[in-house]
Amino acid sequence: MREMLALAILKPIIFSTINAVSLLVLINLPPAVTLLSPCRNSCGNIAINYPFGMDDGCGAPQFRHMLNCSSTNDLFFLTPSGSYKVQSIDYNKKTMVVYDPAMSTCSILQPHHDFIMTDIQSAIIPPTSDTVFALLNCSIDSPVLNHYSNLCFNFSGHSCDELYSACNAFRVFHFLTNTTPPCCFTSYDTIKFMSMNILDCTHYTTVLNTDSLKGIGPLDWVYGIKLSYTLPETGCERCAQSGGTCGFDTETEGMRCLCSTSSNSTRQCGSVMAQGHARISGISSQKLFLMMMGAFLYLISS
Ligand SMILES: *[C@@H]1O[C@H](CO)[C@@H](O)[C@H](O)[C@H]1NC(C)=O
Ligand SMILES: *[C@@H]1O[C@H](CO)[C@@H](O)[C@H](O)[C@H]1NC(C)=O
Ligand SMILES: *[C@@H]1O[C@H](CO)[C@@H](O)[C@H](O)[C@H]1NC(C)=O
Ligand SMILES: *[C@@H]1O[C@H](CO)[C@@H](O)[C@H](O)[C@H]1NC(C)=O
Repeated sequence: MREMLALAILKPIIFSTINAVSLLVLINLPPAVTLLSPCRNSCGNIAINYPFGMDDGCGAPQFRHMLNCSSTNDLFFLTPSGSYKVQSIDYNKKTMVVYDPAMSTCSILQPHHDFIMTDIQSAIIPPTSDTVFALLNCSIDSPVLNHYSNLCFNFSGHSCDELYSACNAFRVFHFLTNTTPPCCFTSYDTIKFMSMNILDCTHYTTVLNTDSLKGIGPLDWVYGIKLSYTLPETGCERCAQSGGTCGFDTETEGMRCLCSTSSNSTRQCGSVMAQGHARISGISSQKLFLMMMGAFLYLISS
């Protein structure tokens, strides 16, 4: 009789204990399994992976402050001369295509401004050799028509003059002077060492993938700048393999493997995961005790 009474009182308690325990297990497991990264990994439809980062401390320190995701989810590549809209990033080919909204193209003439990169950017993410800069409406005194004329070239059988005749935007140069003002197809290095003012050309445009434009007219060229980046040797692979996100200490710029929002490590997430386990088993042993209590009570009660 006393046993029955004990059972009647205990059973609901036991069951609710067991339920509470399983609930706790369910609630507690997910955060430990999913390692939340403090780094946003996309902007619009563009994936942001190493070496790039949008949040400070994410990616490689060399690429710090280079990307900005606008409130409209457009990604911008930041240089001293402005913000260039990122069209795509190819992580296999290690290239990024950017577009200067203020640049002239075949269909729109806009006042020139320089394309300037920092020294670091020029070193680690320069324009590719198949990105051609077309300097337009150059004065006859322009260095690229005189001392530096060897910096100008024709690519894939195209001459610069073609731009003047094929593009609505550039035909205006003809009209005004009734002659064909000089122009020059050149590479980024020319722009890097001479500003537009020194070059003495009023406009420029850029064309990418110039190697594959044989027989294709300026109306169908792709305007923009393709950049090619190099990956710094920092041991990111090891961190990524351990489930972490590569980042850096914002003060020392030393490498950090970001394992979760609450833990960072210097190389990989292994040691941090061990800490995580310790935390889980700390909770678990408590639960285990409760479960064993419950099981024990359940056994003696039945
Ligand atoms: C981990 O690193 C990130 C990025 O540097 C930083 O924002 C965060 O505060 C760090 N967290 C800890 C726990 O150190
Ligand atoms: C990034 O863009 C936002 C909004 O366009 C702007 O407020 C912010 O200053 C930009 N950050 C940098 C580092 O340029
Ligand atoms: C072309 O360049 C000349 C100076 O060399 C300048 O006066 C003229 O305005 C320029 N044309 C356009 C359409 O900007
Ligand atoms: C480019 O092509 C034009 C027209 O075909 C030609 O007059 C010019 O000499 C060529 N320039 C170079 C640098 O080869």
